[in-house]
Amino acid sequence: MLDAFINQVVPLIDEINRTFLRSLDLAPKLKEAMLYSYNAGGKRIRPVLLLAVIEGFGADISKGLRTAACLELIHTSSLIHDDLPAMDNDDYRRGLPTNHKVFGEATAILAGDSLLVDAYRLIATDELLTPTDRVRLISELSTCSGANGMIGGQELDIENENTKIDLDTLVKINKHKTGKLIEFALVAGAIIANQNEVIIEKMRRIGEHIGIAFQIKDDILDVEGDKAILGKNTLRDEKNHKTTYVKLLGLEGAKHSCQAHYEKALTLLRSLGMNTAVLEALFRLIIDSNK
Ligand code: IPE
Ligand code: IPE
Ligand code: MG
Ligand code: MG
Ligand code: MG
Repeated sequence: MLDAFINQVVPLIDEINRTFLRSLDLAPKLKEAMLYSYNAGGKRIRPVLLLAVIEGFGADISKGLRTAACLELIHTSSLIHDDLPAMDNDDYRRGLPTNHKVFGEATAILAGDSLLVDAYRLIATDELLTPTDRVRLISELSTCSGANGMIGGQELDIENENTKIDLDTLVKINKHKTGKLIEFALVAGAIIANQNEVIIEKMRRIGEHIGIAFQIKDDILDVEGDKAILGKNTLRDEKNHKTTYVKLLGLEGAKHSCQAHYEKALTLLRSLGMNTAVLEALFRLIIDSNK
C-alpha cells in the first residue's frame, strides 16, 4: 500500500519540479546544476509525508502537490550546501559526485541559492490553494527553512564540530537542521487539509519526534550503512568531528532513542482519529530503512 502511494505521487512531484527547473533557463549551467542534483534521486520522503497527511485526512492530494514539490526543492538545496567544502566537504551524494565536484563551488552555491529561492513560487502561484493558505504555507516554510529552522540548525552543527556537546544541545541541532523540514511536511499537510489549529499543533509535535528519529537514523547509517545503497559515503561524521547520537549514546543507545522518538510520534498520530495507514508505514520506513 505504501509502495502504491509512493508510485502514485512521486512521478507527479517530479514532473512539477522538472518542468519548473527547465523553465529557469537564463544561465544554462545553473539550470543544469539544479537538475543534476534533483534528478540524482533521493527518497522524496518529505513530499510523500506531506501528501500522506492530506490523504489521511481524506482531502484531495492534488491541492498539496506544488507545496510538496517546493519542499523537495528546498531539501535538495540544503543537500548541495551541506556537501560544500566549507561545510561537510562530501564528494558523493545520491549515488553521484556532489554538485560542486561537477559544476564547481560557485555554481553549486548558486544552484543551492536558486533552489531555495525560486521554490517558493510553486506555492505563490498555486491556483488550487486560497491566497490565505498560500501566504500561510510560505510563511511557515520560510520559518522552518531559515535562521530559526534548518539553516540555523546547520549553523549550530558546523559551529559545534570539534566541540564536546551534551544530549540537549545535540537534540536542539537535529530538531532544527533536519527536524524542521519534516515538521513542515506534517504541518503543511494539515493546513492544506483544512484542519483546525489544535490538530495542526499536534502535527507539529509529531513532526518534531519523527524528525529527530530521522536524523538519529541518518547518524546510525553513517556508521553501519552501505555506501552503494545509501548513495553517500559512510563514516563521515567521525571524520568531520561531529557529535552524533552514536557518538554520545553508542550504536545501541542511538537505536533505542530512535525507537523512542518513533513511538512518541506514533502514539500522537494515533490520537488524531484520522486514517493513519500510509503515515504509519512511512514512519516505519524512516526508522527501518537502509538508505
Ligand atoms: C539526508 O536527507 C539529509 C538529512 C536531513 C539527514 P535524506 O535522507 O532525505 O536524503 P535523500 O533526499 O533521500 O537523498
Ligand atoms: C544534513 O545532516 C542536514 C541537512 C542537509 C539540512 P547531515 O550532514 O548528517 O546529512 P548527510 O549525512 O550529509 O546526508
Ligand atoms: Mg551536515
Ligand atoms: Mg552532511
Ligand atoms: Mg549524516
